[in-house]
Amino acid sequence: MHKDCERILFSEEQLRSRVAEVAKEVDKLYKDKNPLCVGILKGSIIFYSDFIRHLTAPVALDFMAVSSYGGGSVSSGKLRIKKDLDNDVKGRDVIVIEDIIDSGFTLANLKQLLLERGANSVLIVTLLNKKGRREYDIAPDFNCFDIENEFVVGYGLDYSERYRALPYIGILKHEVYENK
Ligand code: PRP
Repeated sequence: MHKDCERILFSEEQLRSRVAEVAKEVDKLYKDKNPLCVGILKGSIIFYSDFIRHLTAPVALDFMAVSSYGGGSVSSGKLRIKKDLDNDVKGRDVIVIEDIIDSGFTLANLKQLLLERGANSVLIVTLLNKKGRREYDIAPDFNCFDIENEFVVGYGLDYSERYRALPYIGILKHEVYENK
């Protein structure tokens, strides 16, 4: 385990098996469809790539990078698009694949945006759900793990762009991010 982690929350094996289980459930809904899988950069990349490999439907892949912050640490209350989709979502069945839902700001706004752009359907799949932190009226359609309000890193999730490549999800030691 990385020295900055307090403990492993989800091991590689737990991630592999739960992601496969959820992906196979989602796959059943898209039998005769051609969904557009939208990954939200950057935290979702590892979850995204593991998830889509269990889909048997003919999927198309696309990505967005968004931010809720106007530069400071306080939410600007508006979703900022840093990188937009390459595809037109009009009439498409979209699967949004996200690493974590916290306040719900990102996914609530993103879902609304995709529907406004004319998506036929928008399904939200998350790896982690911090239910206790929700401020916006949105819930994932499928979620792999519910977690408490802990600082998690690895499997795509970062602290200051570090730890994304850890193959497991670990809880970061307090001393790593406190007084920084
Ligand atoms: C994280 C995560 C979600 C968002 C969730 O992204 O990937 O997009 O925050 O928080 P919310 O529910 O309160 O909106 P982050 O801004 O850390 O970017 P990253 O994925 O590039 O690490």
